[in-house]
Amino acid sequence: MHIYLLLLSTLLTAAASSGSTEKIGPSREDIESHLSSKTPYRVIANRNDKEVKYPGCTPIRIWSVIRHGTRNPSRKFIECAQTHLHRLRDKIVNSTKSHLSEQQKVALQKWTLTISPDEEKILLVEGEDELLELAERMQNRFPDLLVENYDPLHYKFKYTATQRTLKSAESFATGLFGRQHIRQITYPPALHKDPILRFYKLCNRWKSEVDKNPDSLVEVKKFEQSSEMKKALKQIMKKTGLSGLTPTDAHQMYMACAFETAWSKNQMSPWCAVFDKHSIRTMEYYKELEHYYIDGYGHELTTKIACPAVVDMLDHISPTSVHTNATFYFTHSGTILKLLAHLQLYKDDFVLTHNDFNRNRKWRISKIDAFASNIAFVTFDCGSEAKVLVLHQERVVHLPGCPPDQHLCSYEQIRHILKDSVERCEFNEICKL
Ligand SMILES: *[C@@H]1O[C@H](CO)[C@@H](O)[C@H](O)[C@H]1NC(C)=O
Ligand SMILES: *[C@@H]1O[C@H](CO)[C@@H](O)[C@H](O)[C@H]1NC(C)=O
Repeated sequence: MHIYLLLLSTLLTAAASSGSTEKIGPSREDIESHLSSKTPYRVIANRNDKEVKYPGCTPIRIWSVIRHGTRNPSRKFIECAQTHLHRLRDKIVNSTKSHLSEQQKVALQKWTLTISPDEEKILLVEGEDELLELAERMQNRFPDLLVENYDPLHYKFKYTATQRTLKSAESFATGLFGRQHIRQITYPPALHKDPILRFYKLCNRWKSEVDKNPDSLVEVKKFEQSSEMKKALKQIMKKTGLSGLTPTDAHQMYMACAFETAWSKNQMSPWCAVFDKHSIRTMEYYKELEHYYIDGYGHELTTKIACPAVVDMLDHISPTSVHTNATFYFTHSGTILKLLAHLQLYKDDFVLTHNDFNRNRKWRISKIDAFASNIAFVTFDCGSEAKVLVLHQERVVHLPGCPPDQHLCSYEQIRHILKDSVERCEFNEICKL
């Protein structure tokens, strides 16, 4: 018995110390928290949902934008993956040079993309859970404001004209009111280009100068040629036994790893096994740079155009507002990031370039733009004045200009900080081509 235990523990120790990362591959944590905008919300959720209380203050209003939950990939990805990733899979499985474990190889061999292009971008069960649980926690934090009885004079829910935001709204409402009550809810007509929920779709100048402009991706292209990318590709080629791998190939593997890991709480995609700690972070930075230049600080215009949403927010959270007390908008990554940038949050004191992979950054897409990412402004009536709590991913954030040592910031102060965006929100003017 003793000898058996000793032997067992010796074997286990040996297994743990014999270059385990190369054999076993990165852990679930290593992978899950570096999936950029495909990170499932469970990785970053704040599970502390104690009632939020400040002495002498009562929450009276909330305005919140919420990204839809975990979804299927786009049609484009599904179509590419169906041909290209299946081909790469066969080559890897056939390779005599791969360093994958037998188990990893078998998992890849069995891998196939089971979704069809017609199922593109639909919200998945994991996404429904994300929204439902988020609603429950928000209600636990603010039970007197997020009352359990639906009243259209108290609550407003709006989504864009997509299945994933509609389903997200319904899941969130289910979390607040219970499944049997969600049929009562009325929604305003959903728009594809909503001026508040998806303002950028109405900005022609942003579309042509930023979104569709190849020059926007100069740093991303440079990063493709960087030593970090070369090092990552080399590691993936060693692991898979493939040769001539391009950043695009690695990107497809990364996307498959990300989506398939997000979908399920207890399974990891077999594609994640091709990465190590460095290469998964390299792919993450690749996407971070792209979002920086398309949805973030990379272009001044991008940070400016969120002003219609900010005007709407200040209108709704005002203590003298005539709007609904609780307003929830179900929207997209592009809205969350541009709004964060407009609020000057997660802004680094340097401009991100292809050279900044090793620098500490605030602009971390996996943290700030996961599926079901959310920003909320909550007004408290504190007797003599109204104060505002700003939450991102259910955690307190401080707008620059608000007291950094206090949770609450006065409503007047926030109005003052955002004065320019309100008074000079010439959206149509700045978006004209
Ligand atoms: C709704 O908002 C009004 C105006 O700000 C406020 O007086 C009232 O207390 C709020 N209702 C709830 C339930 O918080
Ligand atoms: C894999 O190996 C088998 C048997 O050697 C061969 O028939 C097949 O064409 C190979 N597939 C690829 C993608 O290389």
